[in-house]
Formats: sequence, structure tokens, C-alpha cells
Amino acid sequence: MEIRLVAGAGFCFGVKRAVDTVYEQIQTGKTIYTYGSIVNNEVVVKELTEQGVHVIESREELERLSDSKNPGDIAAGTIIIRAHGVPREVQQQMERKGWEIIDATCPFVKRIHRAVEKKSGEGEHILVVGSPEHPEVQGTVGWCNGPVEVLETVEEAEKYMPPEGKKLTVVAQTTFNYNKFQHIVEILKKKGYNVSIVNTICKATEDRQRETQEVAANADAMIVIGGKHSSNAAKLYEICREVCDNTYFIQTLDDLHLELPKSARLVGITAGASTPNKLIEEVQNYVRINF
Ligand code: F3S
Repeated sequence: MEIRLVAGAGFCFGVKRAVDTVYEQIQTGKTIYTYGSIVNNEVVVKELTEQGVHVIESREELERLSDSKNPGDIAAGTIIIRAHGVPREVQQQMERKGWEIIDATCPFVKRIHRAVEKKSGEGEHILVVGSPEHPEVQGTVGWCNGPVEVLETVEEAEKYMPPEGKKLTVVAQTTFNYNKFQHIVEILKKKGYNVSIVNTICKATEDRQRETQEVAANADAMIVIGGKHSSNAAKLYEICREVCDNTYFIQTLDDLHLELPKSARLVGITAGASTPNKLIEEVQNYVRINF
């Protein structure tokens, strides 16, 4: 039986860079904090926590830690901004409070921040296509110098009316579905608005989704490895399910209860952008040895 691993499975460039940054900083012996989990993968976060990395979950917590003066309290130290980035205000709060900031925002996300900052500064209206709850989108919104709106669905695009006489700049969440983005852009253009589109969808995501679809279409079973809260892993699961009924979503090898028909010839494996190689290899080895 053949096992096929999707070529782009696992850590993307930006996530790998951010995780490597945390490990490098641990070596310095300083107290290390990350603003939010560095990746949407509980296994990785647990491993880092065990090595003394603290996760700050909110601005209130950031404020409280910054002002903490009581003996025994954790003092402010080095803070790492994850690949998703943060709003400008959060970064400024860190600066004001004297944190040593290490910015591991993915350069592709940084590019969006710079674009919206510039365009909104020139008076343009900004429209972000993506999920309003996603930290990356919230970060992008937070770098605008003027009015900004977020929309996520085709229906919202159909109803959308930008302020009159304003030029509109449209950007996308890096992990947004490419075809859906194109559809939304078409709708906006048809309305005759003065729109300029910056396609900010990351190629890593697009490639991973396409390759996953290709493998899943021929597989007897598909294993998707990813964090519970990872939206890109959930998307991979959805893609696989459409073409392969026998699809498993797992966080770690312990979750896998693989059942294969005797006639099975191909098992495909894919993984979200926050899944470390070690986990992928474990799953691969398990299938190889047991089936
Ligand atoms: Fe960056 Fe693309 Fe990953 S934007 S964080 S390389 S999915």
C-alpha cells in the first residue's frame, strides 16, 4: 500500500520562522513571552510552555504584567509577536511598557500592514476580505489610518456599499480561499466602484490546498493533522471530505483510529500550517508499520 504525503504539508515559511525565533530566544535564558499562542497547535505550545515560555492572552494581561511590581510576580521581559501579527496599538502598548519586542510577524502579513497603512493614509477606504474574528485580520484592521471594513462572504459582498466618492483598496486574509476571493472581487468590480485589488493570499496556503485536493481525490483514506483551532487545517479537512469519505482529522497520533478496507491502495497525509514535522513523521511511520 502506498502512503502519499502532500508536498506542502506542515509548517509554512512564516510559522517555521516564528517557532524558530522562540526556540532561539529560549537559548538566551531570558524570560520569554508570546502574544497569543505562537502557532495554533496545542502540542507545540505545550512543549514551549514546558520550556518556560509564557503565553499572554489579552491586552489586559499585557497591561497587568507590565505594571506588576509585586515580589514574586513575573516581570516584563522579551515578547515575541507571532506570525499573524498584532494591531499597531498593541505593538505601541508593548513599546510604551518597555518590553523587548521581537517581531516574528510573517513578512507576507507585514506587507499587508504596510499596504493598508499607506493606502488608508492617502485617504482610501480599506476593505479586508477575511474572517473578522481571525487575529490576522484584526491585526490588519489595526494598521489602518482611517475607515476599514471586513467582509467574509459572497452575500456580504453583494450587499456591500462603500462610502460615496471614495477609492476602495481591497486586501485579503493570507489564508482566504482564492476562488472565493476572486468571486468577491468580481462582484465589487461589477458594481462599478473605483477598486484597487491587492491580492495578499499566501501561495503556501493555496498550494497546500490544491495538492491536498489532488492526493485526496485518489486516496482510499486521508489523514489531516492539525490543531483544533487551526482554520487552515479545518479547511483541508473540508477539501478532503468532498472527495474522500474516509477522512480523519487528528491532532496527534493518539487520535488516530484508522480503519482501512482490504482493497485500500493509497493513504494520503496532509497537515495544517501549524503542524510540526515530528508529528507528521510519527503518523507516517505508524501507517507504514501497521498497514
Ligand atoms: Fe506567512 Fe503564508 Fe504562513 S502568510 S504565516 S507563510 S501561510
